[in-house]
Amino acid sequence: MAAVEGWEDVPAQVRRRHAELATEIEEHRVRYYEQDAPIVSDAEFDSLMRELEALEAEHPALVTPDSPTQKVGGGAAEGFTKVEHRERLLSLDNAMDDGELAAWADRVARELDGIDYHYLCELKVDGLAVNLTYEHGRLTLAATRGTGRVGEDITANIRTIKEIPQQLKGDDLPALVEIRGEVYLPTEAFEELNASFAAENERRKAENEERAKEGKRPQALLKLFANPRNAAAGSLRQKDPLVTASRPLHMVVHGIGAREGFVIDCQSHAYQLLRDWGLPTAKHNEVVGTLDEVRAFIKQYGEQRHSVEHEIDGVVVKVDEIALQGRLGSTSKSPRWAIAWKYPPEEVTAKLASIKVGIGRTGRATPYAVLAEPVKVAGSMVQYATLHNQQVVKAKGVLLGDTVVLRKAGDVIPEILGPVEDLRDGTEQEFVMPSHCHECGSELRPMSEGDIDLRCPNAEFCPAQIRERIAYLGGRESLDIEGLGYVAATALTQPLEPADAPVKNEGDIFGLTVEQLLPIRVLVRDPKTGMPKLDDATGEEREVAFFANLKGQPKKNTTVLLDNLAGAKERQLWRYLNGLSIRHVGPVAAQAVAREFRDLDRIFAASEEELAAVEGVGPIIAKAIVEWYQEDWHREILRKWREAGVRFVEEAPEEEGERPLEGLTVVVTGTLAGHTRDGAKEALVVRGAKVTGSVSKKTDFVVVGDNPGSKYDKAVQLGLPVLDDAGFAVLLESGPAAARAHLGLPTGEEEPAEVTTEGADQG
Ligand code: IVH
Repeated sequence: MAAVEGWEDVPAQVRRRHAELATEIEEHRVRYYEQDAPIVSDAEFDSLMRELEALEAEHPALVTPDSPTQKVGGGAAEGFTKVEHRERLLSLDNAMDDGELAAWADRVARELDGIDYHYLCELKVDGLAVNLTYEHGRLTLAATRGTGRVGEDITANIRTIKEIPQQLKGDDLPALVEIRGEVYLPTEAFEELNASFAAENERRKAENEERAKEGKRPQALLKLFANPRNAAAGSLRQKDPLVTASRPLHMVVHGIGAREGFVIDCQSHAYQLLRDWGLPTAKHNEVVGTLDEVRAFIKQYGEQRHSVEHEIDGVVVKVDEIALQGRLGSTSKSPRWAIAWKYPPEEVTAKLASIKVGIGRTGRATPYAVLAEPVKVAGSMVQYATLHNQQVVKAKGVLLGDTVVLRKAGDVIPEILGPVEDLRDGTEQEFVMPSHCHECGSELRPMSEGDIDLRCPNAEFCPAQIRERIAYLGGRESLDIEGLGYVAATALTQPLEPADAPVKNEGDIFGLTVEQLLPIRVLVRDPKTGMPKLDDATGEEREVAFFANLKGQPKKNTTVLLDNLAGAKERQLWRYLNGLSIRHVGPVAAQAVAREFRDLDRIFAASEEELAAVEGVGPIIAKAIVEWYQEDWHREILRKWREAGVRFVEEAPEEEGERPLEGLTVVVTGTLAGHTRDGAKEALVVRGAKVTGSVSKKTDFVVVGDNPGSKYDKAVQLGLPVLDDAGFAVLLESGPAAARAHLGLPTGEEEPAEVTTEGADQG
């Protein structure tokens, strides 16, 4: 770094840190812009940059022309012709919190004191910046941003994007205009592209085995893209435009550079003009008058980030009036008339400490990742992430000790996308799926031929399976017993050495007594990590009584549990059936069966054919029910429940208000932010709604999440009430009339909808 005046006065350790940061940022920049192979998340990059900016703000002598803070974007890559932009492509300053946004707005207000102006709110598209030059309406050049001054000529590739016109429409076209925008790959197309790569890799692997036998060299495997942005970059910077043409790239316009021969007053009006010329403009923009409205826009898209067809990493707020933009001006790097609000990152990197295997209530062995430390993803702390099964671990290519990319979409379960291979140091190790259940020692195996999942076959005695089943039995979709959650289930099912656990299986639940509960002790655990907490003084694990206070008397949770267990002897039939954790039987199937047979004895006396004939059931579920009942110990559970006073006959009438959605037919499509698809269906079913798979005139509501399918189109065609996340929440909390009111529809007494077919669930 070249010295400038005053540089020597900067403390040595600050200079060292500055140099370190500058070097590191430069490396990341090359990886990001030129190699499409970043090894840190955008958030980590931003935080390094901010540290550098803070150092330079405090010691201006550190600001030299070659500092990363003075550069925009990346450099031009090798292999493409370099082109100079007529007008520089600037970057944007970021606002990471409301204080920074307000500070920007204050500055603008001060500069524009007394002038009326508006904010234009746009989504910040996570794609690739491009600059298109149109001369007399013809596309003559397309370039990447590159350094901001010099980019790469990608005209041939850009011409393959259907949405980008070669020739603008209209008569009065300007002699010259530079159109700036973002090229992106829609999230769905990204997923399809990676899936097709994965399938091609499977094919190549199989072929490579043959080739090996013939002594031929193996074919290389395709590298999957880490995210849609990398996929877009990789697709656009292809030497062969035919490859680019095969990728469904899109573009959205977000600005104008150099121009000759036309004048515009507002950026939002310019977009209208560009739309008329045939250019792809954004659907989601909004012009507002106050900062609070800007905040509302930010909040709205923060909540429905995934309902947009492309990835967004924030919101760009611009002063809409072009003359005022000129008045506010720009720094060397970014305009003063715009700011980028950044959403909390949804993708972070973290160290994979180990992969453990959990045993579920039906015995399924599920590998899950344990991160070395909890990390914040999309606003919440995450330390574990499911890996589904051993094939998924393989397909993702993660090794123990890898730095992995982690993603959390909405409040859905966190997912590991894959390893950052370039950060490997050779010490990483392959995960080997254990051959035996770590809780009971049984050999794990697939339950039927062709099953990917391995299961612990010891349903009767495996402590993990018993614990999980008991917790599920107490859960909302089963008997809904207050006081019987996961922690209580753990406490109740652990042995009281030398005696057995008070709950050896479901059969013992209704017979529990105070005397059995009081001696139960549990390990003190860290609520965040779930790991045992060690005693400060001794360094040992600590145990405390779970149901007794220090005097040995029952705590409140004891009475709560026992009272609620007593109350749970009169629930609807389907709740018991669902609570038995019979494979493939979830609330939807349990309701269908209970509705049809109305009595537990009749259900278990039915043949597979009779069960399968029930609407919403089918042969797999029917077989599972029949097989379940063939086990002696299963029948013993039912005997004990009966002995304790459970009657098992429909219809213990639901309490007033418990089935607020009774009589409604609802279809769920797409990914909801607040629920998994099955979770959404269950939430409806437990409230009495009928969930079906197909949209018809008789459907009362269609709940539509992110990336909905054709069901959404059909709902719109039929003019049915369509609920988004927020509307769905209203339906669940306040019922159909409130949901209709939420949509602005009349809420008068409608005819209850007729029940239609479908709605099988596979538990
Ligand atoms: S305006 C002079 N609007 O984000 C202002 N940029 O991090 C130029 N981007 O360089 C940018 N969506 O490549 C603008 N709606 C939007 C955008 C957007 C994405 C990109 C753009 C910019 C980068 C800054």
